[in-house]
Amino acid sequence: MSDGLENVVAAETVLSEVDGLAGRLVIRGRSLDDLAGRATFEDVVQLLFDGFYVDLPADVAPALGAARVDVFAQVAVLDAGLLALDPVEAMRALTARLPDGDDLSTALRLLAAPAVFIPAVVRAGQGLAPVAPDATVTHSADILRMLRGAAPTAEEARALDAYLVTVSDHGLNASTFAARVIASTRAGLTSAVLGGISALKGPLHGGAPGPVIEMLDAIGTPGHARAWLEQALDSGERLMGFGHRIYKVRDPRADALKGAVRRLTQGSNVAPGRLAFAEAVERAALDILRERKPDRSLQTNVEFYTALLLEALAFPPAAFTGVFAMGRVAGWLAHAREQLAGGRLIRPQSVYVGPAPRRAA
Ligand code: ACO
Repeated sequence: MSDGLENVVAAETVLSEVDGLAGRLVIRGRSLDDLAGRATFEDVVQLLFDGFYVDLPADVAPALGAARVDVFAQVAVLDAGLLALDPVEAMRALTARLPDGDDLSTALRLLAAPAVFIPAVVRAGQGLAPVAPDATVTHSADILRMLRGAAPTAEEARALDAYLVTVSDHGLNASTFAARVIASTRAGLTSAVLGGISALKGPLHGGAPGPVIEMLDAIGTPGHARAWLEQALDSGERLMGFGHRIYKVRDPRADALKGAVRRLTQGSNVAPGRLAFAEAVERAALDILRERKPDRSLQTNVEFYTALLLEALAFPPAAFTGVFAMGRVAGWLAHAREQLAGGRLIRPQSVYVGPAPRRAA
C-alpha cells in the first residue's frame, strides 16, 4: 500500500505533465514558460477542451461570455445564509444549483460559475450590489470588472490571465483526482466540478494562499521573519506556500507568478516593497526548512506567489481559493471528459485491518 497514493499511477492523460525532478509543467504539449504571460484563459480552455468537446467552437470566447451572463441569474438567491459562509463555500452552493450533464453547454456554465459567483459573493459581503457580466470583454477583464465595478487596466487583465493559465491544470492533483473519480461514475460534469471545489478548498491544496497573506502580515518586517517562522514550526505548524508532493525542486508555477507580480507592480504604486519583503520571507523560510529537514527538499510552491499576485489585483484573501477554482475548473472539465471517453469506473481496493468477526454466542 502507498500512503497517500504516493507514486501510484492512476490515469493516463494527454492534458498535462508535471515533472517533479526537472521542475517542469507541460500543458497539452506547451510548456508553462511558453504559456504564462502570453496565453489568455480562453486560449488554455481551447487547448484543454480540444478533442474532448466535439462541438467546441473555433473561438470559445463568445460562448463563454454568454455562459457568464446565463449563470448570473443564480446570484439572485444570494442571501444572508450563503453570505455567512466562506466565499468558496457560497460559490459552491450557487454552482450546485446548475443542472448536471456532460455536454459543452454544461461545461461552459461550469467554467463561468466561479468567475461570476466569486465577485458577486465578495461584493455582496461588502454590502455592494453584484455587477452583471459583460459578454463582450475577455474572461479575465470581466472577472476584475465584476469584482470592482470598473474596467481593469490591460496589465491587470493580463496578470489575471497569467494566473488562470498557470493554475489551469496540473496532472492528477487531489481535486482533479476527485473530479475524475466522480466523472467515472457518470454522475455528470456539475457533480465532478463540485467534488473538485470541495477537495480544492482544503489548506493542504488550494486553501493555502489566504494563510500566506496572514503569515506575511504577522511577520511584518524582514528582520522578524526568522524568529516568526521558527516559532511557527516549533508549535507544529506548516509553512504555507512551501512543500509539494511531486516537485522536489522549485515549483515552476512559483516563478511564472512571481514574474507576473513583478510586471504588474513595476512602476505602479501598488504596495511598493511588498514583493521584496515576500522574497526576504521566502529566503528565510527556505533556509529554515533546509536546516530542519535536510533530507527533504521543501521548496516554494505555487501558493506563495499566488497570494502576492491576487493581493495586487485587489482580491480579498478570503476569496483566493475561489479564484484558484476559476482557473482549475478548466482542468477538471477536461479531465472529466477524458475519463468519460476512455476510463472505467474508478474503484480501488482497501485492506481490512479491523477486528475479525466474532462468533455469535
Ligand atoms: N512546512 C513545514 N514542514 C513541511 C511542510 C511545510 N510547508 N511541507 C512538508 N513538511 C514536512 C512534513 O512535516 C513532513 O515531515 P516529517 O517527514 O518529518 O514528518 C515532510 O515534510 C513531508 O511532508 P508530507 O506531509 O508527507 O508531504 P506531502 O507530500 O504529503 O504534502 C503538502 C505536500 C501537503 C503540499 C505539504 O508540503 C504542505 O502541507 N505544505 C503546506 C501547505 C501548502 O502550501 N499547500 C499548497 C500545496 S500546492 C497546491 O496544492 C496547489
